[in-house]
Amino acid sequence: MPTDAAVPSTLPNSIDETAAMLARADYVTERSLATAVFLALRMGRPLFLEGEAGVGKTEVAKVLSRTLNRRLVRLQCYEGLDIASAVYEWNYPRQMIEIRLAEAAGIESREGLGQDIFSERFLIRRPLLQALQGDPGAAPVLLIDELDRTDEPFEAYLLEVLSDFQVTIPEIGTIKADEAPIVVITSNRTREIHDAVKRRCLYHWVDYPNAAREFEIVRRKVPGAAERLSREVVAFVQKLRTIDLFKLPGVAETIDWSKALVELDKLALDPDTVNDTLGALLKYQDDISRVRGSEAARLLDEVRGELT
Ligand SMILES: Nc1ncnc2c1ncn2[C@@H]1O[C@H](COP(=O)(O)OP(=O)(O)OP(=O)(O)O)[C@@H](O)[C@H]1O
Ligand SMILES: [Mg+2]
Repeated sequence: MPTDAAVPSTLPNSIDETAAMLARADYVTERSLATAVFLALRMGRPLFLEGEAGVGKTEVAKVLSRTLNRRLVRLQCYEGLDIASAVYEWNYPRQMIEIRLAEAAGIESREGLGQDIFSERFLIRRPLLQALQGDPGAAPVLLIDELDRTDEPFEAYLLEVLSDFQVTIPEIGTIKADEAPIVVITSNRTREIHDAVKRRCLYHWVDYPNAAREFEIVRRKVPGAAERLSREVVAFVQKLRTIDLFKLPGVAETIDWSKALVELDKLALDPDTVNDTLGALLKYQDDISRVRGSEAARLLDEVRGELT
């Protein structure tokens, strides 16, 4: 992988090249996701990734930034996120100092001072504006993470940004990106995102990986894990996802659990170890008490039966 941040890599020319590029950064992808990423890059359209927690949505943006050698600009969404935190804000303390200094010097023109303190010098750029004013020839990767946590007025605002890659600052005017950033939007679907936002994006639902792909992910992310352990871990997690739990384990949990088992020097699963380490996989007491004991033993028996 190139490391010189000053040299942005060119975009991949095919779906295969896209998958290979992601794989170089240890992101194991199915063809449908590689296709969506490829098209988003080629068409300059935002990529909208929806899916359960821990399935690798955010990671797509991080990996694109690394492999394409672009700056990653991240906007973490939350309830109440406003323009001052997402786009820009005037630097009031500096403006006040400027006014005091002008007063001390005996202000020449009030209008001139007004224009001066509302110039780009006093602008604090937040992620969306930073993403529009990227380095020449190397538009950044803009990650708008967990959009479902914001409220609708903010989504409406995003529309302008996503359709024209521009923002309007009343005191300055419209700032338009010379080159559109590579945009990745993620959502955990705690609520539906407005159609108008989705329409501007290419959409992909990121699903839990199948066993083969999840094994490949564990192999890459936890290289110290014994092969037998990794196979059992993956098979066990895949089975857990078929039972009715409040919160199913994502890929992140599979990786965590594998790491925990490696820390415990385990080469294979056994019922006691599974019971004692369930907290790496399941994060709700109801789920843990449902699985711990006989259910875990049953799943483990099935896993062993299938793997031998
Ligand atoms: N396909 C994959 N290939 C390699 N690693 C993966 C893959 N999917 C997930 N991971 C790993 O799983 C972890 C969680 O991924 P990520 O943070 O992207 O999940 P997410 O979908 O954004 O979750 P959340 O909704 O909780 O934010 C990361 O460490 C990531 O490297
Ligand atoms: Mg995420």
